[in-house]
Amino acid sequence: MKTYKNTNHTIHHGDAIEVLRSEIDNDSIDLVFVDPPYNIGKKFSEFKDSWPSDSEYVEWAYKWIDECIRVLKPTGTLYLMTSTKAMPYFDIYVRKNLEVLSRIIWSYDSSGVQAKRYYGSKYEPILHCVKNAKSYCFNADDILVEAKTGAKRKLIDYRGDVPKLYNTKKVPGNVWEFPRVRYRMYEYEEHPSQKPEALLDRIIRASSNKGNIVLDPFSGTFTTAAVAKKLGRKSISIESQEEYLKIGLRRILEMDKYQGEILERVNKNTKIQNTRGVKYKEITRDLF
Ligand SMILES: C[S@@+](CC[C@H](N)C(=O)[O-])C[C@H]1O[C@@H](n2cnc3c(N)ncnc32)[C@H](O)[C@@H]1O
Repeated sequence: MKTYKNTNHTIHHGDAIEVLRSEIDNDSIDLVFVDPPYNIGKKFSEFKDSWPSDSEYVEWAYKWIDECIRVLKPTGTLYLMTSTKAMPYFDIYVRKNLEVLSRIIWSYDSSGVQAKRYYGSKYEPILHCVKNAKSYCFNADDILVEAKTGAKRKLIDYRGDVPKLYNTKKVPGNVWEFPRVRYRMYEYEEHPSQKPEALLDRIIRASSNKGNIVLDPFSGTFTTAAVAKKLGRKSISIESQEEYLKIGLRRILEMDKYQGEILERVNKNTKIQNTRGVKYKEITRDLF
């Protein structure tokens, strides 16, 4: 295990369970976001995301779930992802120690090959859990979205004592539509399961305040820490694969070299051809 850090951001290169146990104090974290391997056979650099059985996968997962709960402050929030197949195990397990406030569906556009003999998978589930349902952070006003119904049609709401226009903004429901990260997007990094910054932006704004500590035990491309940093939060990240560690060192700690290797963004071909065959350079920019 090796640690890299600056004043506000820490990166541990090592195994999530070992690092959680040895490096992270009880009741010290405001927000944990966990996007672990899903046991669906993906290749994460040298690591194959595959367990011999569902029960061995969940037994492994229960160890880091216990650690995440231990390190969470009494007012803390945990967002937990896994496959649709494994989520029922996680949901039942966390309810021993946490309150599940929302079961979120991250719904996205098509993912290449279309299923022909069953309904293709177009979403990933996310559990939104807190330690104490009477005392937790939820900055509703910071994540408001456009209310598409009454307000858009300028309808009058007659339900109260005084008629008024419908609200133009509302707190999002539990079905979230965010596109998956594509090669041409500015935020793209080389990783098979990068989560969009927009997804983490909503989670971090809602469930933490400036200066709070956000922990991600399976960091991948370090999206969580990158958004935490943009939003003025502190971050702790753990990642076992050196290839992805290098993304974090560049993206979060702004290091330009690792063991003599120059750390650079993916050098993408951003030329696009339009219908007339004319090539032009795609304009890519940061969302924030
Ligand atoms: C689903 S990906 C996370 C993607 C990340 N949320 C993002 O937006 O890029 C899971 C990550 O966990 C890492 N990993 C696998 N086993 C690990 C372990 N035991 N400890 C720490 N990281 C691990 C993998 O290398 C992979 O990058």
